[in-house]
Order: sequence, then C-alpha cells, then structure tokens
Amino acid sequence: MTLAVVTLAAGKGSRMKSDLPKVLHTLAGKPLLGHVLEAASALKGAEQHVVIGHGADQVQATFADSGVIWSEQAEQKGTGHAVAQALPAIAEDSLVLVLYGDVPLIRTDTLRALVAAAENSLALLTVTLQNPSGYGRIVRSGDGEVQAIVEHKDATEEQRLICEVNTGIMALPARLLNKWLPALSADNAQGEYYLTDVIAMAVADGVAVTALHPASETEVEGVNDRLQLASLERVYQQERARDLMTAGVALADPARIDVRGSLRVGRNVSIDVGCVFEGDVILGDDVHVGAYNVIRNSQLGNGVSVESFCHIEDAVVAGSCSLGPYARLRPGAELGEGARVGNFCEVKKSLIGKGSKVNHLTYIGDATIGEGANIGAGTITCNYDGVNKFRTEIGDGAFIGSNSSLVAPVTVGKGATVAAGSTVTKNVGDDELAVARGKQRNITGWKKPGKH
Ligand code: UD1
Ligand code: CA
Repeated sequence: MTLAVVTLAAGKGSRMKSDLPKVLHTLAGKPLLGHVLEAASALKGAEQHVVIGHGADQVQATFADSGVIWSEQAEQKGTGHAVAQALPAIAEDSLVLVLYGDVPLIRTDTLRALVAAAENSLALLTVTLQNPSGYGRIVRSGDGEVQAIVEHKDATEEQRLICEVNTGIMALPARLLNKWLPALSADNAQGEYYLTDVIAMAVADGVAVTALHPASETEVEGVNDRLQLASLERVYQQERARDLMTAGVALADPARIDVRGSLRVGRNVSIDVGCVFEGDVILGDDVHVGAYNVIRNSQLGNGVSVESFCHIEDAVVAGSCSLGPYARLRPGAELGEGARVGNFCEVKKSLIGKGSKVNHLTYIGDATIGEGANIGAGTITCNYDGVNKFRTEIGDGAFIGSNSSLVAPVTVGKGATVAAGSTVTKNVGDDELAVARGKQRNITGWKKPGKH
C-alpha cells in the first residue's frame, strides 16, 4: 500500500506578523515545512503531498527540487477542505497520513507507529494537556472508546473539562477519506469543514479508531507566533546538545550551543559556549572549539584547536592545525597538517601547506602556500585589480617579511625571503632575497617644525 503523506500548509500565520509564509520561518536554520518533510520522508516509500495557499509561490520555490506533489487551497475553508484538495492526486488504495507544516518536531518513530495502527482503521495522535483550552477535545464513551472530536468553540462546558486533545495528526485509508470528506458540513461555530468530524463518521461506520500518544508533547506543538517558534528552537537545540553529549562531546554548557544542520564528531571533542554550527560540519578526534565560534560546512581534522571568535566557512582543515582567536576562513580555504592561522587573518580560496604559519593581521586570497612557510604580520596578497582575480604562489620554507604586499600574479620561490615592507610585483626565485621598498635615509641636523 502506498503511503501518501498530506502536509497542510495553507494557513497565513497572521500571528507571526511577517511577510514570510509561516511554514518558511526557520527552526535550526531550516524552514518549518522542511522539518516536517524530513520526518515524513524517512517513512519507507512515502509520497509527499503538500497543501498550500498563502504564499504558495514562495513555498513552492523554496522546495522546488523536493519531489513534493503540490495542491492549492485558494480559500482556507478548514482542515477537512484542505485535505480534500490533495485527494484527487492520491490513489484510492493508499494510506493517508495528515501532518501540519507548522508542527516541526514530529518524530518519524511516532509517525511509523501511527501508520502501523491505521490499516483499515483510523489512527489518531492525541495528548493530554493541563490546559486544553483552544484544542479539539477527544470525546470517549464510558468504556473508553473514542467517539468524536469536538472543537473547543463547539464544545459544551462539560466537554471543555476534557484534557485529552487532538493533535490533528492522523492516519487513515484514502478510500475512507474519499467517502467521508464530501459528507462534511460547515455547520459549526467556525463555519469550516473540520477534518475532525471524520472521527464520528468512522464510529458511525463501524471503523475502528485508535488513539496513540507521542513520546513527548513538544513533538506535536505547533508554531503560531514567534514566542512558540523560539521555544521550539530551544527544545530542538537541547535535543542536539543531548545527542552530542551522549556521543561523548564535552559541552561547556548544553544551553549555549546551536546546531543548524548536521554536526558529526569524533572522540574527545570539547566545545566551549556560544558556538554555532551550520550546514554539514565534521570535527575529528580531539578537536577543541573555543568560545563563540561560527563554523559552517567545514571539516576539522584530528587535534585541531580553534580559539575564540573565529568564522569558518566551506573550509577543510587538516589535523593538528590551530586557528584564531579571531581568524576567518572563507570558502575554499584549505589548511595542511599543523598549519596555523592566527588573529585577524583572512584566508580565501587558498591552500596553506603543512606547518606553515599565517599568524597576524593578514589577507591570503587565491594563493598557494607551500610547506613550512612563514607569512609575516600584515602580509597582503593583492589578488584583485578591480576586474580580475590573480594567484599568488609561495614556495616551501619561504619567509615573507611583515607588512609586505604581494601583487598577483606573482611567485615567491622555495626558501626565498621577502624583506619587510616590500611591495613585490616581480617573481622571486628560490632562495633569493627580494627587497622592494624605498631606501631609508637618515638626515642629521633635521630641524623640527616650530609653532607659528
Ligand atoms: C486543529 C484541529 C483541532 C486540534 C488542533 C491542534 C480541526 C478542525 N481542528 O485546530 O482539533 O486540536 O488543530 O493544533 O482540524 N489549514 C489549512 N487550510 C485550512 C485550515 C487549516 O491548510 O483551511 C492548516 C493551517 O495552516 C494549520 C493547520 O491546518 O497549519 C491547523 O489549522 P488551524 O485552523 O490552526 O486548526 P486549529 O483551529 O488549531
Ligand atoms: Ca492551530
């Protein structure tokens, strides 16, 4: 049987007070809808349907390559009406799983259990809340069988005392939806076609209704405003921190780390407070990440140490390197074993060879630096003439004196030395010394200017 996941995402999300459609707001750097699709796509053979309405174009464009089957709900006439929009594209013998684009922390395991319980029946995810106000209430018979869902606005005083509520997430055969949805009525407090009315229809038709519960309430919490979004972000980050600590990472404070993507770690890794990891980051064994670092789509080899306040993006750093404090590795920075990039140094699209040092106040762009080279404080590779970019090559063991400008394209040979303060415009051969600066003159008897 095909599993057709139908995610409702047509609502406006007015309480976000934002031009961005609600399901495109991000949690851990990923749109809310992306989290839902990810949880659902881990279900074997799942076909993904999404019902869109407000901001439909923008939502579709964001998930253009996702293989999602879209249906549009031009006017939001209720959750039952929303599911009905997706049905024509779903085979009659499918099982339908209804999810919500603004309920991002739902877990695949929970969905799997729900799907397993739904063959030829209706499986419903419910939770018991201390404050059930606003939610649809689960009405059970004397012997505990689910009878119906009554929306808060339609509920009697007595029904409002029920603390078991509908999460909205359910699984049931498409065949039954095809039968029940056309029979829904909007004759209720909100004038909407409620998906929840199918529960009573199931009971009337003798179809079994099973209620399951998620492992945690946060799995089924929806995002309606920015406070709820921020609170689910914390829940998510606490879980990531717990995963990392379980994997053996020493976190200085599990409440002060943000993982927005995948972070893979080796053994004996330690991470100080305030670090943000984005995209795919890999940390080898014995990596130490100091306080307040941002690391994006990068790989740090065994024994790398990153001191505070570095920004590292699309970089590959071999083992035993040391970075920072205040280093910036931009896309295409590649460091060989044991290399060092120190404070206020920026490296872009450059190779820094094994054991080479770029320690202070330096810009290295479009360069290849060999092994064991020493790049003095304030060195600049002048890689850009305002129109084109050019490369700088620095050989093994070269020594670049402080405050030198290397005007690319230019090559400094192996073992060569560039005198401090040089502006190098011509290639320097192996082992040569280049002195390219104005000569010093000392003028004796010089009279300091006096006051007029
Ligand atoms: C719904 C349930 C309620 C449950 C609650 C859990 C119904 C009738 N009620 O109520 O039992 O306790 O969720 O949060 O289902 N949507 C559309 N198109 C529509 C209407 C809604 O796409 O025409 C989407 C919304 O964008 C939203 C979700 O469906 O993501 C839920 O809709 P909402 O109107 O918020 O339902 P609730 O009143 O919260
Ligand atoms: Ca809601």
